[in-house]
Amino acid sequence: MSSEVVKQLQEAVQFSPENVPLRLHLAQVLMQDYDYVQAEEQYRKVLELSPDHTAAQLGLARTFYHQQKYSAAIVVLEQLEHHEPDHFDALLLHCRILVKENSLRAARDIYQHLLQLNPGFRDEALDAQFRLPQQQPSATFEEEDDELSEDPDKVFTLEKPDMNFSDVGGMEREKQEIDLKIIKPLQFPDLYKAYGKKAGGGILLYGPPGCGKTYLAKATAGQIQAEFINVGIHDVLDMWIGNSEKNLHALFELARQRKPCVLFFDEVDALGANRTSMRNSGASHLINQFLAEMDGIAANNENVLIIGATNAPWSLDPAFRRPGRFDRIIFVAPPDTDGRESILQLQLRNKPVSDVDYKALAKATAGYSGADLKAIVDLAIEDKLLEALQKGAPQPISQKELVKAIKSHKPTTREWFNTARNYALYSNEAGLYDDVLKYLDIKK
Ligand SMILES: Nc1ncnc2c1ncn2[C@@H]1O[C@H](COP(=O)(O)OP(=O)(O)OP(=O)(O)O)[C@@H](O)[C@H]1O
Ligand SMILES: [Mg+2]
Repeated sequence: MSSEVVKQLQEAVQFSPENVPLRLHLAQVLMQDYDYVQAEEQYRKVLELSPDHTAAQLGLARTFYHQQKYSAAIVVLEQLEHHEPDHFDALLLHCRILVKENSLRAARDIYQHLLQLNPGFRDEALDAQFRLPQQQPSATFEEEDDELSEDPDKVFTLEKPDMNFSDVGGMEREKQEIDLKIIKPLQFPDLYKAYGKKAGGGILLYGPPGCGKTYLAKATAGQIQAEFINVGIHDVLDMWIGNSEKNLHALFELARQRKPCVLFFDEVDALGANRTSMRNSGASHLINQFLAEMDGIAANNENVLIIGATNAPWSLDPAFRRPGRFDRIIFVAPPDTDGRESILQLQLRNKPVSDVDYKALAKATAGYSGADLKAIVDLAIEDKLLEALQKGAPQPISQKELVKAIKSHKPTTREWFNTARNYALYSNEAGLYDDVLKYLDIKK
């Protein structure tokens, strides 16, 4: 199957030899095919076109690695690290190569660096090589070494997203609100102060599943070139189980050290809802501490943005919405027609397509979320690949497959609105759900 894809991509590359994303895609497919020699060639061509292209540098180093050309790989990685010293995957590859070359001291230094970037990072082979049994990793929070070793299993992913608002289709209202409520205050704190408004603090994104809350939060970090720390609420609750509230403090400290930084709490309602039910269990302690940390950030930190996301804002303890906490609330609605059109375009960019009528598809997908649209594109691609296999000849994705996929995939946002409607109608304190009412076209 993949050889057909390769052939098709090679033809496309011949057709537009300077198309960097296309070449990269071809190189990646070749990698998946274990064809490192050809992949190497493609990555080299990309680097001729765009010498500092990080993904191509990393790809090239990988092809060298698989061909056991270790010193060549290191040369490329060093170039990459020169302009991106904290590139996690590059450092990881670098570390593995040094181990292969038996340069253990240098490898160990990089391993430490990796743990600094991501304290939860685990790698069986490297851990076995470098971690002493009694010494848990803790490089990140220097002064907090001891406390952290109590809870070695928690995982935060720390990254500098390589996406921004231009990768988010539609959502103009949401982007504008984020810009006004969170980005501008960060950029012009004095101006906001002059009007008695504080910069920093938290915003809460809520809405039906799959409509881009997580995606938008990440793009926000990318938009201001900030670090993005994605914290699942279960990580926070695990801290409670690990009996280590200091870790929560360490997390906020990490955010302060990494500013500008977006600290993202997904499924934040799980925490809020647990406050009462866990009151007697000791977890409420942790939750109070969470709120106190947020207050602390609001009081004296203007470069840490806190974003929470939830499908169930009504389950969130109102204490979370007090001033300085998640006090700015944004409804992330399913994409409108224009939004769907641009999401489909984004999802199909760099893929072989012909005769696609995006406007018609957008019209036919009312109520579909971004995730639904992504699923439709995936279905259409599978369909096309199957056809290519049977016919032995590749063809671009066309309207036909996409329309068929739309028919077989139903929108997933309606159920959420059934619940949300009730809250919006009957417990809409302080106009919290006005945007939902507006979306549903219900007059107050
Ligand atoms: N506006 C958009 N532009 C481009 N892609 C989008 C957009 N919205 C959603 N997507 C796609 O849908 C996927 C799912 O979105 P995301 O995970 O952000 O939804 P969510 O609102 O966080 O859902 P959940 O409530 O289930 O966590 C994204 O990874 C992305 O591929
Ligand atoms: Mg999400």
